[in-house]
Amino acid sequence: MRVGVIGGGQMGAGIAEVCARSGVDVTVVEASDERAERSRASIEKSLDRGVRSGKLSEDEKSAALDHLAVTATFEDLEGADAAIEAIVEDEQLKRDVFRRLDELLPDAKFLASNTSSVPIMKLGAETKHPGRVLGMHFFNPVPVLPLVELVTSIMTEPETVSEVRTFAENVLGKQCIDSQDRAGFVVNALLIPYLLSAIRMYESGFASKEDIDQGMVLGCAHPMGPLRLSDLIGLDTLLAVAESLHDEFRDPASVSPALLNRMVEAGLLGRKTGRGFYDYS
Ligand code: CAA
Ligand code: NAD
Repeated sequence: MRVGVIGGGQMGAGIAEVCARSGVDVTVVEASDERAERSRASIEKSLDRGVRSGKLSEDEKSAALDHLAVTATFEDLEGADAAIEAIVEDEQLKRDVFRRLDELLPDAKFLASNTSSVPIMKLGAETKHPGRVLGMHFFNPVPVLPLVELVTSIMTEPETVSEVRTFAENVLGKQCIDSQDRAGFVVNALLIPYLLSAIRMYESGFASKEDIDQGMVLGCAHPMGPLRLSDLIGLDTLLAVAESLHDEFRDPASVSPALLNRMVEAGLLGRKTGRGFYDYS
């Protein structure tokens, strides 16, 4: 099987790594040569981490790399059996990608999106075959977290869902839950209002960022607090998901706090840019 992954940032790189480690041929398409190079380097770094922690042997690492191709040429996807889109959380850019995928891959079994919140029907509507379009929502970091949300639009065919479930569970070793096509799906509809509340709490001076995070780690056994988790997700992604949720549900809990807007405008996007609520440089 050969899978195309469009977008090789945090999530696309993780998805490609998991595919390659599972013996699936994977072609990652990035927006430029420089970004393609960065994506390949981050996959190699993550595989090295696996070797260091004893989860992966050197042979398994090189076998995974043999399954991986990274490119900046969209047409290199030609002939892929399936595609998983993982570009930046921008509805218009994602729609363009789905239109191009539908034309380039008329025989692909499924065209999936890893979107955190864009309704899948908006992507399916760009294609001539919306029955093979669905959401395949992985969690960050992809090599560590077992969940994939399967999101079906009103046009997704049951055979597509069953094909993707088998791929996610039997080939990639993930566990699936099902969600209807509502902005944020199951997990982000619950998680994002919580993260936004933590930002509002910090913004209002109610408590320090360290104490907010420590509170949830020590008091609720979360692996990381909400401000550190926001930095891990990426503040641009968090803002985009908040906007999608607000567009759909008009719930005040999903209004983006001014501090989040300002941080995104300043390019303080979290771990991926070296600074967000915390400094990672
Ligand atoms: N890639 C691969 N492996 C990684 C990794 C990465 N990016 N980050 C951590 N790991 C591995 C480490 O190698 C380590 O493995 P070993 O136990 O075999 O050594 C293990 O994960 C634990 O890592 P660390 O000891 O370095 O750090 P930690 O114990 O603090 O765990 C964490 C780090 C896995 C990120 C953990 O803090 C965690 O699970 N945090 C919560 C993450 C979360 O909630 N994610 C969901 C975000 S929401 C989302 O994804 C949806 C969306 O649409 C926005
Ligand atoms: P990211 O910013 O790390 O990576 C996005 C990548 O997309 C960048 O490398 C960029 O160069 C690339 N890109 C942009 N336009 C492109 C195009 N037209 N063709 C090819 N590549 C293009 O973002 P991310 O965190 O990897 O998020 C990617 C997607 O996954 C988003 O839809 C996001 O909502 C979703 N998601 C994110 C998380 C998370 O915790 N960060 C979790 C689950 C899902």
